[in-house]
Order: sequence, then C-alpha cells, then structure tokens
Amino acid sequence: MPDLIQRAVDVLKAGGLVAMPTETVYGLAADANNASAINKIFTSKGRPTGHPLIVHIAQAELGVANDHQDSATAWREILSQWSRDVSPEALILAHQFWPGPLTMILPKAKNVLLEVTGGQETVGVRCPQHPIAQQLLKQFGGGLAAPSANRFGRISPTTAEHVREEFPGDEVLILDGGACDVGIESTIVDLTRLDTHGAVILRPGAITQAMIDQALERSDRGAHDNDEVRATILSTMPKSNSSAPRVSGSLSAHYAPKTKLVLYDAKDTESVISEVNNSSDLKRIAWVHFPNGLSVKESGFEKVSKELLLPLESKALARALYAMLRQLDALNVDSIYFEQLPDGIEWDAIRDRLGRASVGSGM
Ligand code: TXA
Ligand code: MG
Repeated sequence: MPDLIQRAVDVLKAGGLVAMPTETVYGLAADANNASAINKIFTSKGRPTGHPLIVHIAQAELGVANDHQDSATAWREILSQWSRDVSPEALILAHQFWPGPLTMILPKAKNVLLEVTGGQETVGVRCPQHPIAQQLLKQFGGGLAAPSANRFGRISPTTAEHVREEFPGDEVLILDGGACDVGIESTIVDLTRLDTHGAVILRPGAITQAMIDQALERSDRGAHDNDEVRATILSTMPKSNSSAPRVSGSLSAHYAPKTKLVLYDAKDTESVISEVNNSSDLKRIAWVHFPNGLSVKESGFEKVSKELLLPLESKALARALYAMLRQLDALNVDSIYFEQLPDGIEWDAIRDRLGRASVGSGM
C-alpha cells in the first residue's frame, strides 16, 4: 500500500482522480486547489457543475497536552485555510467528532475555489477516519475535494469493486481500503447561521442531531429545535440564486437503483403479498424484510426469486445497505419489495437514503 499511496499522491499532484476509501463511502478525490482537476470530477461523475463538493482534510497534529485547548488551536489553524470565520462551535465539533463521519458547512475562505463550492460563499469540510484516507491526505499535504465515487444520482460505493463498476476505464486510480465501516454518507451540519438558526443538520448520518446538540450544550448558539429551520432551508435549495446552501443529497431522487424499489409498511405485508401474487405485470420480485420467523412459502408470497433478511441493528444495516441495493439491482427482477424501517431516530439516516432510493428507482 505505501507505494500505491505515493502513486496516488503523484496522480493527484498531476491533476488526476483517485478513488479513496473513507469510513462512510468511497470518494472520488481531486486536488481541491486545482480547478481543472475539479472539473474532471464533474465530467467523470456526470454531475452538473454547481453542486458543491466536500473538502477532505488531514487530522490535526495535537501537541503533548492533547487536551481541548490544544485541539482547538490545531484545528483553528487548519480550518482557517478553508474558512474565513472559524467559530468556537466548529472547533468543538472538530474536537468531538473528527476524524469521523461529519461534514461542516462553514463560510469559505477567499482562496477556496468557487468550482469546489458550487459558486457559493460556503464550503463543506470533513476529516475522514479511514486510515488510507488519512495517509493519503497527510502525504498529499493539502485538501482533497471528493464527492461519493458513483455516477450522478446512483448508489454510493462502499467497496473498491463498486467503484470499478462505476468507473470501469483507467481514468481513476482506485485505492482498495476494504468495505466501508459506516456505509452511508456523512452527516452534514450547517454552521453558517449559528446566530439565528443554531447548528442545522442538512443531511442525516451516523452523527445525530442529539450528539451535536450535546457537544454544543454549553454554547448558547448551538442547540436549537431545528426541524422547522431545516425544512425552510431545504425548501429554498433548488433555487440557483438562493443564499441557502444546496445539498445534492437533498434532491428527492437519489442513491437510486434501476429496479423499482417499493417500500411497504410491515402491517401491510398481507395486502402487499396478495397484490403481487395477483399482478400480471410482476413475474419475479425480490423481497427484503426483517426476520418474522416465516419462510417465503409460509408467507404465501409466490414470485419471490430472492429473499434478503435485514439486520435488526441499525449500524449493521447502514453498513450493508448500499451493497445490498447493488446486489438486488443486478438481479434484474421486476420489483424490489422492501419493508419500511422502524421509527427510532437510530434509523433516520438510513430511512432518508431508502426513501430517496425509492423515489429515484425504476428510471
Ligand atoms: O460521507 C461523505 O460525505 C462522502 C465521503 C466521500 O466523504 N462524500 C459525499 O459527497 O457524500 P457528495 O458530493 O456525494 O455529497 C456531498 C453533499 C452534497 O449533497 C453537497 O451538495 C453537499 O454535500 N455540500 C457540499 N458542500 C456544500 C456547501 N458548501 N453547502 C451545502 N452543501 C454542501
Ligand atoms: Mg453522492
């Protein structure tokens, strides 16, 4: 791996693209300070320009004391390269959750390329935890802009093999870091309107609002009741001249398989089964559900050519979700019937991705 990482650094320095493993999903990385390298990301992904990219940065080197003060000083220095106004709240969250699956939206520094921020005055910054990402960032010595390494609108990759499926040519050097541990994209928290709105989650992920609120407990600007605020911000996003941040993950159709994905409520299982059994359009379906102790036969489902049982634990499902959707998509069944997830907040981020996958599916 060390030689491969050096090769990846060379590719990045020359303005090329590298697929980098992170703990969330694989990213398609380019030098964040090289506009033509950034443009390659958009062309390769088929992503419309104007969608902002997250800048990935190396971990702060802490001094001997390794305490909160130390950490704040180190993170302030690093974040100042990307943001013109590093708030205490940003430093608290960096100290608490980095390296890890959290992206902060901050007011951008002057030198940050508008190609990276989608023309906005804000920038998304994340310090990923995966050791290969860290090694790459450290050796590269700068920021790496990286969206998820999938073609626009499709399922994010959680293995190197998935990335190869998305980019079969040799335009991307792929670093294989194994299967991603978290499995869904980072939480995105907007810290650009702290005075008026507090810290607002724009995309749910492994770091929850409760975790952020708790970290910012002593900050009088951090913890707000954000549901309404978030809805307002998200509703303004598609407008191109709006000053509100745009999040491509907030498009309703996203992360989508080509096969129609139908989410159904567990309490409607019987009616779903009889509807499918009686449909003349459906010949072969996949059935994905939590274990209920019944075999397919006992359930009375007639056209199931693939049955997958869901893990009962949310972290395990997040880790497996995208690989599962890819596997199901490759079956070429007529439809995927997927049991809706439980209500608890630990399922929120996965429910969000599944909902989008369902809206964008079958196209
Ligand atoms: O876990 C992740 O975040 C992965 C890994 C590779 O780090 N990256 C990822 O990138 O999911 P991407 O580009 O697929 O999604 C990033 C989201 C997009 O929806 C983008 O709109 C939003 O972050 N974003 C980036 N910069 C932003 C900004 N300045 N304001 C608002 N949203 C921003
Ligand atoms: Mg993406």
